[in-house]
Amino acid sequence: MESKNVNILAIESSCDETSAAIVQNGKVLSNHIATQKIHERYGGVVPEMASRAHVENIVPVVDAAMKDAGMTPADITAVAFTQAPGLIGSLLVGSCFAKSFAQARNIPLIAVHHMQAHVLAHFIDEQPAFPFMCLTVSGGHTQIVVCHNHLDMEVLGETMDDAAGEAFDKVAKMLGLPYPGGPLIDKYAAQGNPEKFKFPANEMKDYTFSFSGIKTSVLYFLQARRKEDPDFAEKNMADICASVQHTIIKTLMTKLKKAAQDRGITHIGIAGGVSANSGLRKALKEAGDKYGWTVYIPKFEYCTDNAAMIGVTGYYKYLQGSFADMSVVPAARAKW
Ligand code: KG4
Ligand code: ZN
Repeated sequence: MESKNVNILAIESSCDETSAAIVQNGKVLSNHIATQKIHERYGGVVPEMASRAHVENIVPVVDAAMKDAGMTPADITAVAFTQAPGLIGSLLVGSCFAKSFAQARNIPLIAVHHMQAHVLAHFIDEQPAFPFMCLTVSGGHTQIVVCHNHLDMEVLGETMDDAAGEAFDKVAKMLGLPYPGGPLIDKYAAQGNPEKFKFPANEMKDYTFSFSGIKTSVLYFLQARRKEDPDFAEKNMADICASVQHTIIKTLMTKLKKAAQDRGITHIGIAGGVSANSGLRKALKEAGDKYGWTVYIPKFEYCTDNAAMIGVTGYYKYLQGSFADMSVVPAARAKW
């Protein structure tokens, strides 16, 4: 008997996580993520190694997601996959798998924009009211987005150079911390004094971000201090991390507040890998209390890259009949 349920198999492979999820009628039944440890020793993601790891991981990860949801390929209604943006080799693995699966089963294929999915991660467990404003902060992007409805999103502003996550990771590297450094900076920052060292805040106009300045100033600061004491960073790790984190969060929150006030929007969320940062989560809650916002903070597992968010986005696209054909190809960059 044909099931009335819409069961979406979702695939995410844009960077260094291979993830598969099963989403039934918009609800996440399973979400498996294989994190690629190989990049740690290189201090950043090595694209070619990421592609190879995706090839190894994709079948076991999909298999685990299916088993966990109690499903077989015959139960799947449609396949959603991350089409853009991301590392092209990584995207190719997920897109080839998704296209092959859809063709073999003769079911619809849904191409998903990774940044749109980060925003819609908020709709996994909750239903924020529209218009909904989201600050998406990841390793590759920093954006303020207004959602008029699930699929109608407007990008108000983005970074003109490094992303917020990239700033965290590059500063961490200068401090001798392993990749990805963002979570480690967060950990050290919890013990440090955020006012101890001063770094320049973002001075871009309106909703445009820039994080290359802080990166350079931390570099020069460390070079100067290490001349006096080669162990300066190790001895002051907590205070340096707290001060850098404080500066990045201040920049993010200042722009977000301005955007919310200018647009008169009071339903506000954060998304993407950096939304796992405890300082940013706290700052959003405080701003919510101060400005009367209803704030949305995703569960940790839905902050960093995951297929559940691709599946939920795929579900809304399914309802809209927004399908891709077999000529669809991944793209490293993509407007939306
Ligand atoms: O969204 P994501 O998993 O991948 C991209 O689409 O880029 O984001 C990864 C980024 C990395 O830069 C990582 O350092 C950062 O998110 N990140 C954090 C934290 N957890 C992850 N940054 C600061 N504090 C954290 N707790
Ligand atoms: Zn991401």
